[in-house]
Amino acid sequence: MHAATHLLATDLDGTLVGDQNSLQMLLDFYTNQPYDVSLVYITGRHYQSALTLIDEENLPVPDVLITDVGTAIYIGESLAPDVVWSQHLEQSWMPKKIDAIARQISGLVSQELPITNRCSYYATDPTVVEDFRAALDQAEVSYKLIYSGGRDVDILPAGSGKGQALQYILNKYQLDDAKLLVAGDSGNDAEMLTMGFPSVIVGNAQPELLEQPHHPSIYRATESYAGGIHEAWRYFYTD
Ligand code: GLC
Ligand code: MG
Repeated sequence: MHAATHLLATDLDGTLVGDQNSLQMLLDFYTNQPYDVSLVYITGRHYQSALTLIDEENLPVPDVLITDVGTAIYIGESLAPDVVWSQHLEQSWMPKKIDAIARQISGLVSQELPITNRCSYYATDPTVVEDFRAALDQAEVSYKLIYSGGRDVDILPAGSGKGQALQYILNKYQLDDAKLLVAGDSGNDAEMLTMGFPSVIVGNAQPELLEQPHHPSIYRATESYAGGIHEAWRYFYTD
């Protein structure tokens, strides 16, 4: 990772994963380049669920796996947890208090996850999400709230998120000079897509991402899923 020259930092569901033909074409395209492309997967799934997807979809094992909407990081061939990152986040993290507040909000349903590094819920009514935000503010809990797909409400430690986790990896491995493409399709990707790095919103993206203001570093692909990544890679790095 230290010597990486080219880097794809991509969400999985709805971005890298979704169309097997275009995924294979993207991977073949990378194989045929004179350089290696290091892979950073940045997913909302928890670790076990991400591993299942990687296995089921036959995805290459990444150099770095960032799970739980940027609250956990796994590195290297053995995908060992990055404890510096998790210890840094644990300092002001209060999942029990957040869950207790959530139980007071009607319309909010727990996702019942097997992890505590984030608290995630379902809510289809945006006013429920705003009620939750107000209650968290009133309780003076340190948090970051991300609402995606009109359904998923993620409460994360304040210093985390997909963008912050990616920045941590770029700093850790001193990758400022690497050619990077960031790819996503939904609300939990907005943070990492708007950091000023070359980024792609794939063609099948959720409306919440399509509403993002236009910016020269954000390419809006016509193609969907991995086809959109392929299109954007050529736009930024080959033409
Ligand atoms: C994935 C996760 C879910 C999370 C959502 C949005 O679907 O499985 O727990 O809420 O992404 O980040
Ligand atoms: Mg997605």
